[in-house]
Order: sequence, then structure tokens, then C-alpha cells
Amino acid sequence: MLEFSVKSGAPEKQRTACLIVGVFESRRLTPAAETIDQASDGFLTSVTRRGDMDGEIGDTLLLHGVPNIQADRVLLVGLGKERELDTRGLVKATRAAVEALHHRGTSECVSHLTEIDIRGCSLEQVLRQSIVSIEDSLYRFDELKTDKELGPRRPLRKVTFILSNRKDLMDAERHVREATAISNGVRIAKNLANRPGNHLTPTTMADYARKMTETHVNLQVEVLDQSRMEALGMNALLAVAKGSSEPPKMIVMEHMGADADTPPIVLVGKGVTFDSGGISLKPGPDMDQMKFDMGGAAATIGVMSAVAEMQLPINVVALVPTVENMPDGNALKPGDVIRSMSGQTIEVLNTDAEGRLILCDALTYAGRYKPQAVIDLATLTGACIVALGRVPSAVLSNRDTLAAELIQAGEKANDRVWQLPIWDEYQDQLKSNFADMANIGGREGGTITAAAFLSRFTREYDWAHLDIAGTAWKVGDAKGATGRPVALLAEFLMKRAEQASAS
Ligand code: BES
Ligand code: MN
Ligand code: ZN
Repeated sequence: MLEFSVKSGAPEKQRTACLIVGVFESRRLTPAAETIDQASDGFLTSVTRRGDMDGEIGDTLLLHGVPNIQADRVLLVGLGKERELDTRGLVKATRAAVEALHHRGTSECVSHLTEIDIRGCSLEQVLRQSIVSIEDSLYRFDELKTDKELGPRRPLRKVTFILSNRKDLMDAERHVREATAISNGVRIAKNLANRPGNHLTPTTMADYARKMTETHVNLQVEVLDQSRMEALGMNALLAVAKGSSEPPKMIVMEHMGADADTPPIVLVGKGVTFDSGGISLKPGPDMDQMKFDMGGAAATIGVMSAVAEMQLPINVVALVPTVENMPDGNALKPGDVIRSMSGQTIEVLNTDAEGRLILCDALTYAGRYKPQAVIDLATLTGACIVALGRVPSAVLSNRDTLAAELIQAGEKANDRVWQLPIWDEYQDQLKSNFADMANIGGREGGTITAAAFLSRFTREYDWAHLDIAGTAWKVGDAKGATGRPVALLAEFLMKRAEQASAS
């Protein structure tokens, strides 16, 4: 956890281990770089003229011995074409800058990148994107390593952002606090999702949620155990858990920031702590990645932490159905028919389509809250990665205005979503000869038919589904949880809170 602060001031007067200033493409200096250049009798222009820094986005160059300034060093950061610089560009440059410093053992720095005017981007966004991306790029999951990976001797601890306008100071300090709350939520989501299935079980996840009430006073947590769920008729959820020796849980978290009679927003996060596929067993390669199949649950819990830390004046409920999907002698079998809590029956044609089975009962349970909206988030379908890759999450909704709100929030939070349709025609693919519906819709349009299945349980309220199969974790060398879509949902809820207090 880093310490962030804001202030205004001239670049040449900053006493710091390292001053960060930007350079646009074709070696065009930003105003802060220009000032340093003048103070140092053209030191920066002489460096850029030699060709060491062209201003290509994400390039960095560390300079020692810059004359006539208070800082020990200056880090030049390339920002690309000035006209094209947007929040994603700022994020790229910021990440490059902190990584360059972190690995060199600089523990503190002052950044002038936040002074730059970015097209269509508020100070709030600039600060939030800077903080969230710095925390993201310095995150490591080393809780299970014996010798903590040898990091830098002196890791980056403190970052000060320079504001172009003194009068923005108070607002900026609030933006820093909010961004810190969001970053904390992202870190919680990553830590939970990175934990392997033998460490993070439905039981330990429930314990974690309960423990959060110790640090957040306005958070209440209740955990429904197997017998409570049996009494409620959550047979679809329970069916998935049958093949595992880990008992299932339904975690219920409530943040009541508004009057008790204000309808809440309900978040529902898929919490499959390991998805072996069950009797419809998955193939071996990469099966380890199915420990991340609780990414929706992790993000839900992370968002609740952010909401509670910001003390948002709205009511938010989180429902986390959590199970392990395993094949044993008691396991759910292909062909089994189960009766969901809603009363609708489901023919299970594939036990690997388990996410929708636990979600449908949680979505039925959500109806009790008479919610203003319900948003579920789930690593639901491999088809989503085929359709959209790993850039956006998919959003599908029974209310286009809600989808539009989420798209906008994702744009602003740099945690994007792309809408897929959920038209009635797709419902035909879920026909069953033996029950009200089948739990799979065939090979075609897999993300959509999964959402079409869920839509049969969400008729009573405005609902959006986020398929985060492609965005909840990274593969390859950077394998690990991303904490998405915590930033998106935090932004969505902050906006709803703002609207509620305005009306
Ligand atoms: N958790 C998986 C979805 C998944 C797969 C997420 C790969 C990320 C990467 C889900 O439970 C699942 O197995 N879905 C099946 C559905 C199919 C049986 C209709 C899938 O996508 O193959
Ligand atoms: Mn599955
Ligand atoms: Zn799954």
C-alpha cells in the first residue's frame, strides 16, 4: 500500500528523490519539462536532441545531475502524440514511470503527469486512474512464497501528484481518498481470486467476508449454510455442491448507507472456488485456472469494501453463492432434473455449466430486496473469450438504460464492457424434453444463451449480467487475478449515489 498526496508547485522547486515529467512525441516538452529545461539551461533539450527520448508512449529515461533544480533525479516519460493522449495513454505512461522507479529502489517521487490537460478527462479521473494503475502495477501475490520474491531494497512508498491549480486541492484530496478505497477493493479481489482452491474454499471465503465487519462499521454480513439453503429451496445451488466435500455457503453482505426503505442495488458474484467441471469433467490442460472461477465473488467482496470505505450514501447488498464443483459419488449427473428456488425445473445436460445453477437461486433470492437494480458478475462462459477476447467484459441486460449506464461507467473507470443482445429468439436453444429448461444452449452464442437462462430468474427487476470470463484474470507470464470489474462497479455505484443525493 502506497501513500499518495497532492499539492501544487513549480517543478524546479520540488525536493524529491525523483521528479517525473512528460515528453510528447517528436521530443515536444510538456510545460513542466519546459520549465526544468529553462532552469537547467537546456539540459533536457540537449538530451532529447541526442535521441535518447523521442516521446514514444511508455518510454522512460532517468536523468542524474540536472543542474539548478531541487530534485535528485528527473524521470522523463514518453506520452505519445499530444492530440491523442487519453486516459489509457496516461495509464500506460504512469505504469512505465513507477516500474522504472520501483526497480531502481526509489522510495518516493513527485509526478507532474497529473498537470497535463487530457482531452475529455476530469481531474477526478486523472487522479483515480493514476492511483489505481500505480497500485495495480506494483501488486504482487507472494503470501504463499517462503522467500518473498526479492523485490527492490527500497520499494516505492510515496507518490505526490502536482496539480496545475491550487484551488483544486480540496477536491483532489477527496479524489485521492476515493481512489485509495477503490484500489483497496481491487487488491482484496485480487488476493481472494489468486488464492488456490485448497486455501480459498466457500468456508474460508465466508470467514473472510465476516471479518470485514471488524474494519467497516456500516457493513453487515450473514452467511446462509447448507440447512438454511435447503429450507429456502435453493436446490440448483445445492446440486452443484453435492460432488464436493466442501460445504456450500451463501454470503450476504449489506451496506446500508441510505434510509432503510430505499431499495438497494444488489450485486451477485459467482463464487465457484474450483470448477473441475464435475462429472462433465474439464480437460487437464490449464485446469488450474479454474481456481479463478470465483472472480465474480472476489470482485463483489472488493466492491463492498470500497463502498463501505467511501461510506457511499446508498444501500448495496452483495450476494455471493459459493461452492466447489467436483465429481464424486454424490455428484450431480448429466440428465438430472432439479427444481430451482423459483420453482422452475432444470435439466442438467452438462455439469460444467454450473455457474448459472448457483446464480439462478441467488437471483431469485435477490428479489426479496425489491431492488432498484441487480447486477451479477460471473466467469460464466469460455464462449465470452472467443467472442470478445480479454479486453472488455460482456454486459447483457433486460434494461438497455442499465446496460448504457454500465458501459459509461466502464469507459470512465477504464474497465470496459461491451454489450451483447439477449433477444427472445435465443430462448429456443434452452428447450428441454424433460424439464422447464436445459442448463445449456448448444455451441452457438454460448455467452448469450447463458444470459438467456439467467433472464428467466430476473423478470421482476432491472438486471444486468457481466460475463467476466475473459477479464477476471490474465494468462501467460502475468498469470493472475486482475480485480476487474471492481473499478467499473465502484464508478457505477458512486454515480448512483451522486444521483440519489441530487434528487
Ligand atoms: N467457469 C467456466 C467458464 C470459463 C471457462 C471461464 C474458461 C473462463 C475460462 C464455466 O463454468 C463453464 O465451464 N462454462 C462452460 C459452459 C458450457 C458447458 C455450456 C464453457 O464455457 O465451456
Ligand atoms: Mn464450469
Ligand atoms: Zn465455472
